[in-house]
Amino acid sequence: MKVDYNLFINSNKETYLKYVNFYNSFGYLHLTNALNNKLVKKCRQEYKKLYEEKNKKSWDKIMKSGVQFFIPNFYEESKFFLDEILIGKILPVAKLMSKDKPIYLGSDGSCFNGQSFQWHRDWFAKSRMLKFNIYMNSGFHFGGRHILIPGTQFTNDEFSQSVGRGGAWPFLPQKFGWLNENNFFPETPAPRDHFLKRIFRKIKGQNFLPYVAIKPKPNDIILFDQRTWHMVEKPFPAIPQMLATGLFAVHPESNVPQNIPNKDQDKSRIDDELRELAALYVGERKMIGCDNYGKFLESSSKENLLCFQANKKICDLENYKDLNIKLSDNSYSINIENTMKNYSAEAQKARALNSYLNDGYTDEMLGINYSNIVKYHKSYDKPGKNKERENII
Ligand SMILES: [Fe+2]
Repeated sequence: MKVDYNLFINSNKETYLKYVNFYNSFGYLHLTNALNNKLVKKCRQEYKKLYEEKNKKSWDKIMKSGVQFFIPNFYEESKFFLDEILIGKILPVAKLMSKDKPIYLGSDGSCFNGQSFQWHRDWFAKSRMLKFNIYMNSGFHFGGRHILIPGTQFTNDEFSQSVGRGGAWPFLPQKFGWLNENNFFPETPAPRDHFLKRIFRKIKGQNFLPYVAIKPKPNDIILFDQRTWHMVEKPFPAIPQMLATGLFAVHPESNVPQNIPNKDQDKSRIDDELRELAALYVGERKMIGCDNYGKFLESSSKENLLCFQANKKICDLENYKDLNIKLSDNSYSINIENTMKNYSAEAQKARALNSYLNDGYTDEMLGINYSNIVKYHKSYDKPGKNKERENII
């Protein structure tokens, strides 16, 4: 679903809520013409400048190396990106999508000219996620589309969990494509294959999983729930894709379930979801080994961005003793040590029971990502494996 950025931002409640409802159901929204051409040009210059600073190499040399480059805390490492893009363009949308209560979780830049993931979820949290992608490269290429399976973002939903039975994530795949696991679905090609191969397969009438593909322009913002199964197609020719992302969660208070239980139960749901988000904030920084935020966040935007804050530099910690996490408006705080210990224990149980599978996560991140799968299926076994067939053999 496409909507003009300015139309969305400036429309009355009745109109914009229709797009919010679409997003809340399907997990994506394509906001067109968010950045004018002048701003696009400035973004591209600033993007290259940041990459050159971080890599201490010229842009041309970085590109020639052919490696995928990732910069954590991307928007907060540039005053321009923070003010003009994150706060100027992305935050107004995040506010509309969350009844004015988005929680900022961070940003990154990734420039990839070849390697990227096949079908995956980024996280599988209980709270709604708002991931804003801007592809700052020219857009003059084939392929390179942002692909996702709509409606697969929910943790407490049979459709979403069922698609997961055929998927590898959060473990590493045993078969091509990452959604051909366990012989669960008929085998399908992954849309990340070479562009020409994909066209050839489509002409031949080969089956693909049902997905939507969004062709990004550098003027657009692609908003998606990063819990959905998604991937990015390879561009043809193989130009570098200059992606910058900003991530928010909808505050659990703004996501009241339709069948609202009594107030006490809802308070425990909200606490539960905030604890999970705080753990993701900690776990991600520990896994990546980056600063809590980029250097400009403190000075420029404290009052604008509701975000988690820690009393220590997370990536330097040996353990989580006395690590306190709070929301920047002081509405929530937690000593996170036990939570992180519990998630690590979850990961250890998951690995012990699925020892034929590998994963690329820290204990804490595997524990967080797998726990909503375990909770739904009431088992630590990777769902989808055909046990009955094994018994027959
Ligand atoms: Fe992803």
